[in-house]
Amino acid sequence: MRSEGMVSPAQQEDDRQFEAALRPTRLDDFAGQPHVREQLAIAIEAARRRGEAMDHVLLCGPPGLGKTTLAGIIAQELSVSIDQTAGPVLQKKLDLTGILSNVRKHQVFFIDEIHRLLPDIEEILYAALEDFRLDILIGTGPGARTHSISLPRFTAVGATTRLGLLSAPLRGRFGIVLRLDPYDEPTLAGIVERSAGLLEIGITHDAAREIARRGRGTPRIANRLLRRVRDYAQVRADGHIDHGVAQAALDLLKVDRYGLDEVDQKIMMTIAAKYGGGPVGLSTIAASIDEQADTIEEVYEPYLMQLGFLDRTPRGRIATDRAFEYFQVPRRHRFAGTQNPLFD
Ligand SMILES: Nc1ncnc2c1ncn2[C@@H]1O[C@H](COP(=O)(O)OP(=O)(O)OP(=O)(O)O)[C@@H](O)[C@H]1O
Ligand SMILES: [Mg+2]
Repeated sequence: MRSEGMVSPAQQEDDRQFEAALRPTRLDDFAGQPHVREQLAIAIEAARRRGEAMDHVLLCGPPGLGKTTLAGIIAQELSVSIDQTAGPVLQKKLDLTGILSNVRKHQVFFIDEIHRLLPDIEEILYAALEDFRLDILIGTGPGARTHSISLPRFTAVGATTRLGLLSAPLRGRFGIVLRLDPYDEPTLAGIVERSAGLLEIGITHDAAREIARRGRGTPRIANRLLRRVRDYAQVRADGHIDHGVAQAALDLLKVDRYGLDEVDQKIMMTIAAKYGGGPVGLSTIAASIDEQADTIEEVYEPYLMQLGFLDRTPRGRIATDRAFEYFQVPRRHRFAGTQNPLFD
């Protein structure tokens, strides 16, 4: 995950605990994403009424928007247990075979970063998800044979930040595919207020809005900002977070007014300044800022589009007037229909 490379293991563990404490466990406490909640509520209720395992669910969307949280909620709402693994963890066929052969009836099997499965491991999953069958190779060499065991029906929940990297056959195994979008400011403010309540921090509504505005549409980031602002409030004020305190703390942390990070800024500057506002192709942007095209597309662009800074057109990405204004890039004369060769 982004910028985590610079964080110590102790800090990571601390962050993990902090996140776990704030994680909603029921669908009703999960804010925003109305279409996701609605679809899940129906699928959960239907599975419960029929006494069956729920269909497999694939959750996709940028980091920190609630995929892991939802996997837990699904299990909780279905009153079943949850086992968890992640694409990069499964290195050998045997790892997955071992986990699958212990799967219990109707339980949730959560596979995080599912786009990072090795191909031969992915293949084991195909049969397990589609036919609830596990093929085990017994012996080696010419004498080897395949033994099939049947598995109880379970619900696989896959999570990915990079839907584009998922193979079509794997994607096709999931009956319910849900996409999470960045949260709007009022919803994010509601999440900040809920977190403040759980942490017993006094905060005004305006202050929660200020933190939300700079939270990049992302609950994880907004909750982390809340934590930093709380520190500031305790040391520099009386512990209570009002608008002035939130603003001073966030300014001190140098959090951009919209919570944009360095990569967001580089993307926008490339389109607006280097390519005169575009249209410019995704691969060109990727090459200019040395970032993978699908990371830009799936992790960064959703929020930039939500802010109204970037538009996707059939001919490429363009920077909006709003972006030119915010990034203070002067509009230059552009040659109709071409990228500006003067600034290449
Ligand atoms: N809709 C929501 N309502 C309230 N809190 C939320 C919501 N979504 C996420 N959060 C909070 O944000 C934090 C991050 O969420 P989560 O770990 O589920 O994100 P993720 O999508 O799994 O991220 P990653 O891609 O990095 O694994 C959690 O601590 C959770 O409390
Ligand atoms: Mg997660």
